[in-house]
Amino acid sequence: MFTERVVSGMRPTGALHLGHFHGALKNWVRLQSEHPCLFFVADWHALTTHYDSPDVIGDNVWEMVIDWLAAGIDPQQSVLFIQSRVPEHAELHLLLSMITPLGWLERVPTYKDQQEKLSERDLSTYGFLGYPLLQAADILMYRAAWVPVGEDQVPHVEFTREIARRFNHLFGREPGFEDKAREAVKKLGSKRAKLYQQMRTRYQEQGDDTALQQGRELLELAQNLSMGDRERLFGYLEGSRRIILAEPQALLTEASRMPGIDGQKMSKSYGNSIAMREDPESVRRKIRTMPTDPARVRRTDPGEPERCPVWQLHLVYSDEATREWVQVGCRSASIGCLECKQPVIDAILAEQQVFRERAQPYLDDPSLLRNIVADGCEQARKIAQETMREVREAMGLDFD
Ligand code: TRP
Ligand code: SF4
Repeated sequence: MFTERVVSGMRPTGALHLGHFHGALKNWVRLQSEHPCLFFVADWHALTTHYDSPDVIGDNVWEMVIDWLAAGIDPQQSVLFIQSRVPEHAELHLLLSMITPLGWLERVPTYKDQQEKLSERDLSTYGFLGYPLLQAADILMYRAAWVPVGEDQVPHVEFTREIARRFNHLFGREPGFEDKAREAVKKLGSKRAKLYQQMRTRYQEQGDDTALQQGRELLELAQNLSMGDRERLFGYLEGSRRIILAEPQALLTEASRMPGIDGQKMSKSYGNSIAMREDPESVRRKIRTMPTDPARVRRTDPGEPERCPVWQLHLVYSDEATREWVQVGCRSASIGCLECKQPVIDAILAEQQVFRERAQPYLDDPSLLRNIVADGCEQARKIAQETMREVREAMGLDFD
């Protein structure tokens, strides 16, 4: 178990589909047993684009959490919460806005892209420009080391790193820092303290990145340090600035090859998706009517799996033997397309059966779900309040 925290969020804009499962949620499920994880519903982010349809958000918040649980997110391992129930996110967003150059926001590639793509909406708002900054607040609040996201979100994580750096640069000059850091080194115990000093020297004098990494690991594992001392020692290791907000890294979700029922990437906006908990009859219908290799006009025409969207689904769902059966059968016209689709239908229905079983208790008793989220919000707030105490102090707001 690594102690480095993982944070990620999703906007509640509709029922999650198989692309979300294979692209993101499967990854979250794996991470939750390796790291402390926080996953949240980014309802404020949804408002930046859907401010004129608030019911979309309300309807989808709880359904989305059910989809997460259906996918195998375990509330015993992961903290699940709703962004707007942790109002510290808004405060951090506001405080960070003081030091965020407008140009940085205007240059984030998703800003212009999304305005053009969603041209039916008026996105020339203050809230939409601030989207990446709100995201930075989400991440920095928990001093996350890793942010599992798709490729499109990498610029937002990069932007978050720049904000953290700017914040630490402006506010990380604690009075008496050197003395406090030296005191904190002693608290490591003599053996660890010596190792720490060696790694610090190796990094600062020779730029040895391995030493930096080892130093960080040593601090991660040191158990008797307060949060403040640990942060000081991270800063002292890297060069005597105190790190108040930690720089996160994107944990790139392997590009999901999950195709939709038309062969394009599965996406709700393309109308080619299958929901995680879609009705089985509807799934059968969608797959049966899926287009196949256009060269197979008649049952007796041989086909080529590489030109067929159904084959893409076999790559996600079928074992080696079934794939072999498809390749041979398709190219020799010894199987029909409906026959070929059946194992895919069976595999999707089996996968969804598990989702439905996991979701059922929460549909039967919504209070179970509310309790999980209430508990998650409380846990998240504890961390958030600790971070905010330090942020306020660093920004001169701790007067009494
Ligand atoms: N912008 C992300 C998306 O559209 C959602 C999000 C909001 C997020 N805050 C976050 C993701 C913080 C990771 C970390 O997918
Ligand atoms: Fe596609 Fe299968 Fe039909 Fe070949 S047999 S065209 S792979 S559906």
